[in-house]
Amino acid sequence: MQQHKPVLIKEVLQYLKPKAGESIVDCTFGQGGHASKILKKVKSKGLVLGLDFNQDNIEQYKKKFKPPRNLILIQENFKNLKQILRDQEIGKVDGILLDLGFSSNQLDQIAGLSFLKPEMRLDMLINDQVREKKTAKDLLNQANQVELEKIFQEYGEIKNSNVLAKRITKSRQQKNFETVQDLIGFVRNNKDLFRNKRMNPATKLFMALRIAVNHELDNLKAFLKIYLDCLKTRGRIVFISFHSLEDRMIKLKLKQDASNCICAEDEFQCKCDHKAEIELLTKKPIRPTQEEIRINPRSRSAKLRAGIKI
Ligand SMILES: C[S@@+](CC[C@H](N)C(=O)[O-])C[C@H]1O[C@@H](n2cnc3c(N)ncnc32)[C@H](O)[C@@H]1O
Repeated sequence: MQQHKPVLIKEVLQYLKPKAGESIVDCTFGQGGHASKILKKVKSKGLVLGLDFNQDNIEQYKKKFKPPRNLILIQENFKNLKQILRDQEIGKVDGILLDLGFSSNQLDQIAGLSFLKPEMRLDMLINDQVREKKTAKDLLNQANQVELEKIFQEYGEIKNSNVLAKRITKSRQQKNFETVQDLIGFVRNNKDLFRNKRMNPATKLFMALRIAVNHELDNLKAFLKIYLDCLKTRGRIVFISFHSLEDRMIKLKLKQDASNCICAEDEFQCKCDHKAEIELLTKKPIRPTQEEIRINPRSRSAKLRAGIKI
């Protein structure tokens, strides 16, 4: 099984600044790579709350390490953080980390996530809490052309998304999509739509379906609405994203929260009365060093942004 290497560890600690006695939430616990470093900083007087909407990651960590008393692990979606902090009687916290996407071990464990495993079912469900359990193959076989085009365009930023969606709906009339191999076969037969020489042509298509199946952007959007209510004054928020759409959403929200005016640009005089609630800690996104990318190629698209509540 692939071991997950946490990205931007040094930078996460630099901006999250966990100190002895503080309470910190790791919203995307994964294999506990970041959380174990944070635990060392908050020491036994502090508290780490780890969330992951994938039960296996939490169970694997519990099996491998005996979690200390000051690490609370819950299978939950980070979009519910405000309610979780209330239910756990933790109140507001000193720091929050979000390291979006999936962990490397999940590539081996979750059916359909990797195009290197052609025999797997096209599921892609990382979030095993979603009620409707709509998998990638359900989308490919059942969504209408307009819905598919939207998924490919918005989540995959794929050129010719309309043609791609049309060809998918045509292809499924002959044979439904069931396995990873079926989708790879489709990509091979439609090479003219996937011309990017720098990446495997299936990459963006797999990414778009994964984001749709797990409602990844909706979760982030919901979290961005509540994160300020979860932080104490001087509390830090750190985001790591791997997708330009996620980074754009984070950048715009942090910019808005750090601004004393959110009036439209053509407004002559400020009418909004908006007050900045955070101070930006990163003017530009922090990127991994060449050395980190060499050791951990998965880190190459990571972008870190951070802020502190004022
Ligand atoms: C990139 S990994 C995090 C790795 C972790 N930082 C580490 O060092 O091991 C992202 C994790 O977040 C989880 N995840 C993604 N979206 C989530 C959400 N909305 N709520 C809770 N967990 C989520 C995934 O299941 C995955 O385990």
